Amino acid sequence: MKYTHYNHELNIKHLGQEVYLKGWVQKSRNLGGLIFVDLRDRFGITQLMVKPENTSYEKALKLRSEFVIEVKGVVIERESKNLGIPTGEIEIEVSDLEILSAAETPPMAVTNESDALEETRLKYRYLDLRRPVMQNFLIQRHKITQAIRSVLVKEGFYELETPILGKSTPEGARDFLVPSRLYAGHFYALPQSPQIYKQLFMVAGFEKYFQIARCFRDEDLRSDRQLEFTQVDIEASFIDEEDIQRVIENIMVHTFKEVLDVDVKAPFEKMSFRHAMDFYGTDKPDMRYDLLIKDFSDLFNQIDIPLFNDKKYIKGLIMPNGAGLTRKQIDKLADLVKKNHGDALVFIKKQNNEYSGSINKFMSQKDYELLGLNNEDILFLVPGQDDNCLNALGALRVELAVLFELTNPNDYKFVWITDWPLLEYDEDEKRYYAKHHPFTQPKDVDVLLNNPKEAMAKAYDIVLNGYEIGGGSLRIYSQDVQQLMFKTLGLTDEDVKHRFGFFVDALKYGTPPHGGLALGLDRIVMLMTHTSNIKDVVAFPKTQSAKDQMMQAPSDVDEVQLEELHLKIRGE
Ligand code: AMO
Repeated sequence: MKYTHYNHELNIKHLGQEVYLKGWVQKSRNLGGLIFVDLRDRFGITQLMVKPENTSYEKALKLRSEFVIEVKGVVIERESKNLGIPTGEIEIEVSDLEILSAAETPPMAVTNESDALEETRLKYRYLDLRRPVMQNFLIQRHKITQAIRSVLVKEGFYELETPILGKSTPEGARDFLVPSRLYAGHFYALPQSPQIYKQLFMVAGFEKYFQIARCFRDEDLRSDRQLEFTQVDIEASFIDEEDIQRVIENIMVHTFKEVLDVDVKAPFEKMSFRHAMDFYGTDKPDMRYDLLIKDFSDLFNQIDIPLFNDKKYIKGLIMPNGAGLTRKQIDKLADLVKKNHGDALVFIKKQNNEYSGSINKFMSQKDYELLGLNNEDILFLVPGQDDNCLNALGALRVELAVLFELTNPNDYKFVWITDWPLLEYDEDEKRYYAKHHPFTQPKDVDVLLNNPKEAMAKAYDIVLNGYEIGGGSLRIYSQDVQQLMFKTLGLTDEDVKHRFGFFVDALKYGTPPHGGLALGLDRIVMLMTHTSNIKDVVAFPKTQSAKDQMMQAPSDVDEVQLEELHLKIRGE
């Protein structure tokens, strides 16, 4: 039986037409002898009606949720209409019905309002994905991917693939390793990103490259992090920062218009890394609300408060109209501050023009008045070192925005974070790490040589509503500078030769100036579909504990496989 329509298409205009439909039984009910069936496909629902005198009636009696059927019938007007769906004014009087596939009672309801546990949803992911709400996430993902691809193709970028089995490249996370069967004790690494390959495409002269690239990082999972995720990976030659940023802005403007019919304004605001840290307490500020961090150190230096005595900085933020927060809510915020490395959380409220709070006994009326509070405001203070104050207040700022509903998911605020330090110094290990990756160009090579702590990078991140949705940089294209960078990172000549010899070699043979960026596709889809859980936008995701619930991966393997790979499990 062919089908003539999808299940969202028929309406009052089709009255009297003979139609063929297919789909899943959403529900089936027997009302006074007439059987009514809601038939579902990926587009919608059509109501079917089977009369007792019909030859298919016996089959219709057997229908249960999730049976797959096909029907032939005539479009008729419904008695009780449902104006909430496009097909709600009609139903199909069925003349023929075939059961294509029966279904056992599903372990979870295939409805948008399913209250199934996450564990069940992930175990039966194919049923979970049948729910329209879940289908929508993946369909939007498809549309977003196509929209992004179309801009890049139009701008002259080639879509090129790079290997999955490669050699470890340093992006800062742990590698996934694949043991080699042919070379005992040797391993391939799955790419954390195609960084080196895309730079080699530039050396090879392709000039403009992109790839919708799967990346693998063995790191702790979070609500916006998966072990494997997808980047829109981009690289171009003979360009500067502005050129790359313009391409990304074009992508965003086009994609938001095409998929959401939202007008995004470009160029996006730019903010230095330092400014973001000082005023937002994070390198990925949510720009939809103010709540800026202020430095109160000078003011509190004049007041003798034991808790503040040995602290270098007292930083804080004012929540307008926040004085109504309860003690319990404030205690929870204090826990959050501690979790984010803040020493303590102190609060001051102004209510009915009276001040109160946890340092009341040390404060005079004159001191209070210097704080700049309006009636009904609350001020939160965190004492400590610069970075821990800022981190803690950054987390507090985000939580206050949630509590006071300051964010609108339909408001999209992009910001470029620029002027990054090139390196980070690890006090424990007494060595430098690259803030982005070791291929990022320093702004000034002399500073890298003589005063690496102060070296700045030609790097830029793109942030949307508090999420880092992409990061990139101009790259080092001189062999000498690349060697200097590796050396600063503590790699010996031997290490460099062993790990990156091929790459340093490639830079010898005529390398164009180049740079690029990678967008986190999963995070973009999350933001555009208004979910805060990355698993929603990944078809078959891993759990927080890094498991595939459906396949039960990771799993053990046969002894023979281990032997072939020259592996022995330790402790067995
Ligand atoms: P970076 O490491 O910043 O840069 O990654 C680019 C973007 O990828 C996304 N992302 C992730 N998304 C989900 N789960 C993860 N575990 C995860 N890790 C990263 C983020 C991030 O902004 N090679 C460089 C790019 C370049 O310099 O061109 C790189 O990989 O949105």
